[in-house]
Amino acid sequence: MNYEKGFGLLNGKKGIIFGALDDRSIAWRVALACKREGAEFVLSNAPIALRLGALNALSEETGAKIIPCDVSKEEDVESLMNQVKEELGGVDFILHAIGMSPNIRKKKPYEDLDYRFYQQSLDISAVSLHKILHFANSTGVLNDGASVVALSYIGAQRIFSKYSDMNDAKALLESIARNYGSRLGHRGIRVNTVSQAPTITSAGSGIKGFDGMFDFAEKMSPLGNPTADDCADYCVTLFSDLTKKVTMQNLYHDGGFVTNGISEELMEGLAKLHELKGDSEDNS
Ligand SMILES: NC(=O)c1ccc[n+]([C@@H]2O[C@H](COP(=O)([O-])OP(=O)(O)OC[C@H]3O[C@@H](n4cnc5c(N)ncnc54)[C@H](O)[C@@H]3O)[C@@H](O)[C@H]2O)c1
Repeated sequence: MNYEKGFGLLNGKKGIIFGALDDRSIAWRVALACKREGAEFVLSNAPIALRLGALNALSEETGAKIIPCDVSKEEDVESLMNQVKEELGGVDFILHAIGMSPNIRKKKPYEDLDYRFYQQSLDISAVSLHKILHFANSTGVLNDGASVVALSYIGAQRIFSKYSDMNDAKALLESIARNYGSRLGHRGIRVNTVSQAPTITSAGSGIKGFDGMFDFAEKMSPLGNPTADDCADYCVTLFSDLTKKVTMQNLYHDGGFVTNGISEELMEGLAKLHELKGDSEDNS
C-alpha cells in the first residue's frame, strides 16, 4: 500500500521529538512520519549536535522549531518545556530517541568501565526520560491522554557483549517507562518503550561489532530487520488514538527476533561450517 499522503492519524496532535541528528536517525524518520500524519511538533537535540547544522534541513521540511537541550542538565530540560509551552501549549506525544555511551566510544571494556562515563551513559540514555517526564509534567506541558515513547534495545533483556554499559542503560530506561506509566495512567497518559532491531544510524554504527549484530538479527528474524522508517510508522501508531490502552510495555519491533530460537538460514550456515570443519579434519 502506498501511504505517502498518510492517514491523518495525528491530525491536531502536538509533540516533542528528541534525538534527530542526521537523516539516518530514527528520530528524523519519526519526524517525517509524524508530519505526514498531520502532527505539529518541536525538534530538540543537544547544543553540540545542533552545531553540525543538519537539523535545520528537517526543521525547514517539517516547519518544526528547534529547541536546544542537553538532557543531562535539569535546567535545560525545564527551560525547554517552558519554551514548548509558549510555542505549542501542551503536547500529546513525546519521542525519546537519545542514547550515548562514552565507555563504548572510548572502547572501555565492561569489566574496566570508567565510572564517570558509566554515570553519563545512564544519565543521558535513561535518567533523561525521567527528567523529561518530570518537567513535562511539572510545567503543565503534558496533556491528558498523551503518549510517550522511548527507543530501547533487546540488550535490556539479553546481553550483547559489544553493547556494554548500554545494556544496563536500556534496562533502566525500560524500568523508568514502566514506573512513570503507572503514575500517569490516571490521566490517560501512556508510556512505552519500543525495542528496535539494529538499525544503521550514527549511534548504531558507532558500536564496535555492530555489523555482526545487524547481520545476526537479520538472519534470525523471520521478517528481517525493520528500517528506521518502519520504526517511525510503528511510533506513529503508538502516538495515535488507536493505541489508547497500551501502556507500561516494552514493545519489540524486531521482525520476530526476540521469539525465534534459531532460523533455517542460521541452521544451514552452521551446518555448512560443520561440514567445512569435518572436511579440514579429514584432510589433516
Ligand atoms: N541504531 C540502532 O541500532 C538502535 C537500535 C535500538 C535502539 N536504538 C535507540 O534509538 C535511539 C536513537 O538512536 P539512533 O540510532 O537514531 O542514533 P542517533 O545517533 O541518530 O541518535 C542518538 C541521539 O542522541 C542525542 N544525544 C546524545 N547525547 C545527548 C544529550 N546529552 N542531550 C540530548 N541529546 C543527546 C544525539 O545527539 C543523537 O541525536 C537511541 O536511544 C538508541 O539507543 C538504536
